[in-house]
Amino acid sequence: MGRAALTLLLAAALAAAVFWSPTTVSSLTKESDEREAAGAKPGPTDLWFKIARGGRLYDNWYAEIESPPPEETHPAYPAEGKKRGADTWRCKECHGWDYMGRDGDYGSGAHYTGIKGVRGVRGIDPWLIRDIIMDETHGYTEAILPRSAVEKLALFLSLGQADMDKYIDRRTRTARGSVARGGAFFQTVCGVCHGLDGRAINFGSADDPEYVGTLARKNPWQSLHKIRCGQPGFGMVALTVLDIQYQVDILAYSQTLPTE
Ligand code: HEC
Ligand code: HEC
Repeated sequence: MGRAALTLLLAAALAAAVFWSPTTVSSLTKESDEREAAGAKPGPTDLWFKIARGGRLYDNWYAEIESPPPEETHPAYPAEGKKRGADTWRCKECHGWDYMGRDGDYGSGAHYTGIKGVRGVRGIDPWLIRDIIMDETHGYTEAILPRSAVEKLALFLSLGQADMDKYIDRRTRTARGSVARGGAFFQTVCGVCHGLDGRAINFGSADDPEYVGTLARKNPWQSLHKIRCGQPGFGMVALTVLDIQYQVDILAYSQTLPTE
């Protein structure tokens, strides 16, 4: 997509969204509902697809675009950090699953980098975010990350971020959602692949298994990000477009599932 087309798409999306604060995907869906009720005939769009894919790229861009993982450690990754190699190129590694960097869950522990979060760019022109991603600090040249991927990342950061602290109690790691309502979604959507108890797919190893229930308690921010955007490189659904409270309800239900 050229710059003109992107700017147009964004201008429409953002202009629509200014009425709701903060700008989110669900505010955009409300807006399109209203326009349709007013008689507008909306055509096909790939905006929602792009925002969700942007979230998967934020999680792990090389898995999502199926390119070989970088071997070197990212030049902007601090020497005192504990990670090396490919992981240090993932957006989430420096900016966190809660998008809050040093001010969030990665403010201490094995993932500490001292780098700030990306909450500050939500709602801004994705074109400006694109310039940040391609700046010298980041070094994501077109040879590393195709232009179309950078565009989707920018869309996600502008329109798709969740306010994690609002929906997850940081101290207890508990989701502020309805277990009952989340169960209805889990059993009819997630259960198709993960099984009713969330144990049909093991993300860990045979000796140290990790299931939906395990991850939901261990890292609720990572879980919510996956519920919203899907899993890079796998055909998992992305629920970005559902009202965020439903996504949080699913997380709340996931926290009741068996952990081993
Ligand atoms: C190796 C660490 C590292 C990785 C990986 C990384 N960043 Fe950054 N990012 C930084 C640093 C350092 C800054 C500058 C922070 C500052 O100005 O204090 C930054 C700033 C940003 C900002 C501006 C935030 C603001 O409010 O000013 C955005 C947006 C951003 N990064 C997006 C991304 C995206 C998207 C990715 C993945 C494609 C990514 N970053 C991967 C280190 C990283
Ligand atoms: C179409 C099948 C499918 C559906 C539907 C699905 N998933 Fe997944 N999910 C997967 C696959 C495949 C993986 C990747 C497994 C792996 O990494 O080995 C995955 C990964 C995950 C992970 C991440 C694990 C990690 O490694 O970080 C979580 C959490 C998760 N799913 C939760 C859910 C929830 C909650 C729902 C319902 C909203 C759901 N999934 C719906 C197939 C699905």
